[in-house]
Amino acid sequence: MAFFLDLVDFGATLGKVNDFDVIIIGAGAAGFMAAITAGSRGKKTLLIDHSAKIGEKIRISGGGRCNFTNKYASPDNYISSNPFFARSALAGYQPQDFIALVEKHKIHFHEKKLGQLFCDFSSDVIIEMLKKEISNLPVELLSSTHVKDIDYREEHNLRFDVICQAKSFFSHSLVIATGGLSIPQIGATDFGYRIAKKFGINIIDPYPALVPFMFDDDMTKKYNRKFFASNAGLSFYAEISTNYKSKKISFKENILFTHRGLSGPAVLQISSYWSDGQEITINLAPHVDIFDYLIKAKKSDGKKKITTILKEIIYPEDLHAESKTKLNRQAVFTDDFVKQFPDLKNLPDNPIAEMPENLLKSIANSLNKWTLVPDDTEGFSKAEVTAGGVDTNELSSKTMEAKKVPGLYFVGEVVDVTGWLGGYNFQWAWASGFCAGKAV
Ligand code: FDA
Repeated sequence: MAFFLDLVDFGATLGKVNDFDVIIIGAGAAGFMAAITAGSRGKKTLLIDHSAKIGEKIRISGGGRCNFTNKYASPDNYISSNPFFARSALAGYQPQDFIALVEKHKIHFHEKKLGQLFCDFSSDVIIEMLKKEISNLPVELLSSTHVKDIDYREEHNLRFDVICQAKSFFSHSLVIATGGLSIPQIGATDFGYRIAKKFGINIIDPYPALVPFMFDDDMTKKYNRKFFASNAGLSFYAEISTNYKSKKISFKENILFTHRGLSGPAVLQISSYWSDGQEITINLAPHVDIFDYLIKAKKSDGKKKITTILKEIIYPEDLHAESKTKLNRQAVFTDDFVKQFPDLKNLPDNPIAEMPENLLKSIANSLNKWTLVPDDTEGFSKAEVTAGGVDTNELSSKTMEAKKVPGLYFVGEVVDVTGWLGGYNFQWAWASGFCAGKAV
């Protein structure tokens, strides 16, 4: 930590234009909420972002309609080295609080499925709402502003010196809301982690989360990229599982075959719990015990071929209602899939009555318990979020303030708290931003 006492004539009051009660770096969801909350308390606030366009991640979120919260958000929907850390912030600012804000601004929204709330028309209204909220408060927004460095003067009222290209700004409190590494194309940087390290604050290794899986071209592997590419566009309502910290984690939702591997909501969800070399298991028909089904078919429809019998497995109607999927067919296993699925394609074309039980068992297992190891994820350029980040042991769960550095706060995605897919990450950004905004 350097001291800059000799460079500027610091005032103890906030009379000077460059002096603030609080400076927030990063004008995303968390930074805006911290600014609104601090500003509402009369705090003179500066909100800085290096991007020219403010709120880009909000704009692209939810397919352009911003899934701004989840009605059912609870601490169980978050991954963190400390699973209890998020509790206090999430309790202090709940989905209903953000819904009230959205309603105050007469923004039309709807629930898509599973408590996920989306704007009816465009995410832009959320960005406009946030800008409107700060416009009546003592909050100044500076875009296209690059922060070169930050210095800290422990004993001074204006402890932080935020050094930008042309000038420095000074503040009593500093909030880092610069997000994670996901989607560098629209301005993500490692700034928050660098600042944490500079102040001796530990970082839990960041990794891409809510991200599609990739398979490589190695043709000696049973499930290679060619297999997925030739089925690209195919989707299943599936249950996908993996082990995480000795616990089985499962999600039941759609999966989608892509040109590089697997995507879809269930795959994105499980990716947050995945690490290199780890197995995932996919139940391609969670509503059917396929072994049981084949044994019954062997007795009742013995003359039929196994491929015909598999094609007769359909999605029940209530499942469509439950998932609101766009599965455009009733049959779970299409002809093409059965022909190409490595575990099925060399099946004898005999009537099922002639097939031994152990063969039926292995067919059933390959569909109800399809086990595979992705080669990689599509990385930060495609990840919706970054898991890991500022170690929660370094922060107060009540205020988000760094225990080692009074006045320094971390909020939003930069912190080691990662939500599920479905509005949970914005809820964390709003809640942690609110929590810090109340404390600064
Ligand atoms: P966020 O990344 O939003 O903001 C950080 C800000 O800091 C940015 O404005 C950036 O420009 C700025 N910044 C970075 N480095 C800087 C530096 N060095 N100097 C100054 N400024 C700097 N979640 C959800 O709940 N519902 C959804 O629908 C979606 N959809 C979605 C789609 C896609 C494609 C992505 C990539 C992500 C989502 N998410 C989501 C996740 C959600 O967008 C994300 O978790 C929040 O935006 C995180 O908010 P933060 O404010 O923490 O970071």
